[in-house]
Amino acid sequence: MALQLGGEVSNTGRGEYGRTDLDVQGDGLLFGPAQPTHQQVWMSHFDSITVAPEGFIVTATTADVPVAALEDAARGIFGVQFHPEVVHTAYGQEVLEHFLYDAVGAPPTWTASSIIETQVALIREQVGDGRLVCGLSGGVDSAVAAALVHRAVGSQLTCVFVDTGLMRQNEGEQVVETFRRHQGIELIHVRAGDRFLERLEGVIDPEEKRKTIGELFIRIFEDAAGGLSDAKFLVQGTLYPDVIESGTADAAKIKSHHNVGGLPEDMDFELVEPLRALFKDEVRALGTELGLPDEIVWRQPFPGPGLGVRIVGEVTAEKVAILQHADAIVREEVRAAGLEREIWQAFAVLPDIRSVGVMGDERTYGYPIIVRAVTSEDAMTADWARLPYDLLERFSQRIIGEVTGVNRVAYDITSKPPGTIEWE
Ligand code: XMP
Repeated sequence: MALQLGGEVSNTGRGEYGRTDLDVQGDGLLFGPAQPTHQQVWMSHFDSITVAPEGFIVTATTADVPVAALEDAARGIFGVQFHPEVVHTAYGQEVLEHFLYDAVGAPPTWTASSIIETQVALIREQVGDGRLVCGLSGGVDSAVAAALVHRAVGSQLTCVFVDTGLMRQNEGEQVVETFRRHQGIELIHVRAGDRFLERLEGVIDPEEKRKTIGELFIRIFEDAAGGLSDAKFLVQGTLYPDVIESGTADAAKIKSHHNVGGLPEDMDFELVEPLRALFKDEVRALGTELGLPDEIVWRQPFPGPGLGVRIVGEVTAEKVAILQHADAIVREEVRAAGLEREIWQAFAVLPDIRSVGVMGDERTYGYPIIVRAVTSEDAMTADWARLPYDLLERFSQRIIGEVTGVNRVAYDITSKPPGTIEWE
C-alpha cells in the first residue's frame, strides 16, 4: 500500500521476527487513548517502509523500523506492519476493533450462531443419504469432525483409524476405546506401523517425508474404506490455520499439511470439511458442546504425520521407540506440574545427531532429546513456554535416566516465527 501510494519500501537488512517493542506516536485512530504508547507486537517481515506516502502520518515506530503503522484518516487508509490478529500482539484485538468500529464504521452485530446447527444442515445438504468415511487420528480435530458428522448423519458415517505406528505412546488403544466403546461410532482399525517404516526407509527430506506418510496413509485408508463400496465422502478435520499454511492464493506454502497438501490428486472421495473455517479454540468449544470428553477436547495438537516429523532424518523403529518414551515423560511431567492447559504443546524431538557423555564410569555416545513447549492461541504464532527450571530438570533427569540411548536434553527457545512449532 505504501509503495503504491508513492512511499518507499526497501530491504534495510534489518527484518523483525517475533516479539518486538512498538512505540505509538501521535493520535492515530487505530491506537485508542487507552493504549500505552509502548507496547509489545508480533512482527514477521524482511522489507520495511522507510518513507510514508504523502498525506499519511506515521502512527508507530520500532527501534529498527521508522514506519511500523501509518494512516491517512481523511482518505480512510490505515496500515500496520505488525500482526494485530495474533495473541502475542498485546493490543491487537483493540487495534482491530478501532479499525472496524471507528475507522470503517462496521458495527459489531455478528453473534456466534450455533455452528453445530449450521454445519449439521450443510453436511446433510452436501451428502444426502450418501455414505461417509472419516479418518480418525486421535486428535481433537478429526474427533470433533467425526462427532459433528455423526450428529448430522448417524450411521451413514464409518470411521477408519490407520495406526501408523508413529503415534504417541498408547494412543492407538485410546482411540479405539473412546470411539468404538464410548461414542458408539462404527470404527475400522488398521495396524500399519510396519508398512510406514518400510516406506520411510532412507527418506530424510521433511517435505518428502510428509508426502510419503500422507500418501501411504490415504492409500491404506482407501483400501480399508474399499469395503464400504458406496462411500463417496471423506470427512476431514481441516482447520483454518492448516488451510492457510498449506498455501492459499495469497499465502506462501510453509509446509504441506497432512490434511490438505499431503493428499494425492487422484483420490476418489469428495471432501467434507466442517471445521475448515474454524480455529482451535472454536473447535474445542464445539467438541465440548457435542459431548466429547475433556480428555479428547483438551488433547494437545498432534501433526498428521505424527512422530515422523519429530524425528529429524530417517525414521527407524529404534528412534520411534526412543521418542515415544521420551515424549511420554515430557507430557507426564507437564501434567504433574499442572501446566497442561496453559501450554499449547509440549513434546520431545529426536534430532539426527549424537554427542559424547559420561554415565557412571562409562563414556556414552547417544542421542539428545530436544524438548519443545510452546504457548499459543491458534498455532499461527507461538512463544516458547517459560517452564520452571525444576520442571526442566525433571525432564532431563528422567529422560536420561529412563530412556536408553539418550544422554543429553536440550530445551528449544525459539518462537514462531521464525521457527515453526514442529521441527519438520
Ligand atoms: P507448525 O509446525 O507448522 O505447526 O508451526 C502448527 C500446528 O500444526 C500442527 N501440525 C499439523 N497438524 N497435520 C496436522 O493436522 C499436519 O501435517 C501438521 N503439521 C503440523 C503442529 O503440531 C502445530 O500445532
